[in-house]
Amino acid sequence: MNQEPLFSLRNPWFVLSVGGTIAIAVVSILIGFIWLPSANSSFSERGLWATICSAAGAPSSWYGGGNIAGPAPSEVVVLPPLRRTHADADSIGRGATIATQNCSMCHGVLGTVQVTAPALAGQYADVIYKELRDYQNGVRQNAVMQAIIGARSDQDLHDLAVYYASLPRAPAAEVLPTGTAPDANAVKLAMQGDPQRNIAPCAACHGQLDRKGAAPWLGGQSSIYLAAQLRAFASGARRNDINEQMRNVARQMTPEEMDSLGRYYAGMK
Ligand code: HEC
Ligand code: HEC
Repeated sequence: MNQEPLFSLRNPWFVLSVGGTIAIAVVSILIGFIWLPSANSSFSERGLWATICSAAGAPSSWYGGGNIAGPAPSEVVVLPPLRRTHADADSIGRGATIATQNCSMCHGVLGTVQVTAPALAGQYADVIYKELRDYQNGVRQNAVMQAIIGARSDQDLHDLAVYYASLPRAPAAEVLPTGTAPDANAVKLAMQGDPQRNIAPCAACHGQLDRKGAAPWLGGQSSIYLAAQLRAFASGARRNDINEQMRNVARQMTPEEMDSLGRYYAGMK
């Protein structure tokens, strides 16, 4: 009988099995973290440590890699609350006065869609308030609107929002020629989305099925405006959507889909 203790360096079987395990681990670490990643073309630009981190699944920002592409995220990460839940008549009245003097030349007296500007009538008050704030602090960029809204007080923005929200929504901005049905692909994207491309149904956020934080009502808007906004989200020119909700959707869409969804929503009441 061998009287040698099991866990001892003098036991050749112990040394062999522990040593063998360590050797296998080292070889597989070298293969998995260094040899395989080094076959990747970006290895030499990124360096050894970055390669090890990315092979281990650690986000690139942890090791301060300079390869984080894309513009800075929106500054507004929460939906600013409207101060009062019930819009009182005074507030609506003040909003009406400011709107008549400063906004109706472009947005129309009734707030319905114009060649010059998107429709505001019946839009959710939180959307209007958020957009106005975003123009004011430059998170959403537009030369016209930024100049107009720049010096307005928070109370003014609030009054304008509840005023436009109180107006009745206009009928469809664009009517389909009689006998034509809306594009089936657009209807499908709006109502079912496309899970394979990670596109949630538009209607799940924009109001026909459900509404998610700060998503505007799209019906009654011109198809040109809607498609232009989708392109702006896709390119990152517009980036005031909280958590990139719209940018993530728009980046997956083809230009044809943007146009046809624009027409679909423009034809909606
Ligand atoms: C000179 C024309 C003009 C005037 C005056 C004007 N707007 Fe605008 N407004 C625009 C245009 C153009 C846009 C679309 C800008 C864009 O693409 O971001 C817009 C966009 C908006 C939006 C965003 C709509 C959306 O669906 O996202 C709101 C809200 C708004 N305006 C409110 C106002 C208010 C309130 C006033 C008055 C204080 C006003 N506007 C005055 C031209 C105008
Ligand atoms: C996860 C929720 C979500 C989904 C899904 C979604 N949207 Fe949006 N969308 C938003 C939000 C939130 C905004 C407002 C962003 C902001 O300005 O804060 C927005 C804004 C927009 C605007 C700009 C409207 C304006 O008045 O300026 C358009 C156009 C639009 N979405 C179209 C679509 C279409 C088309 C789809 C489906 C293919 C879609 N969205 C799917 C959340 C969503």
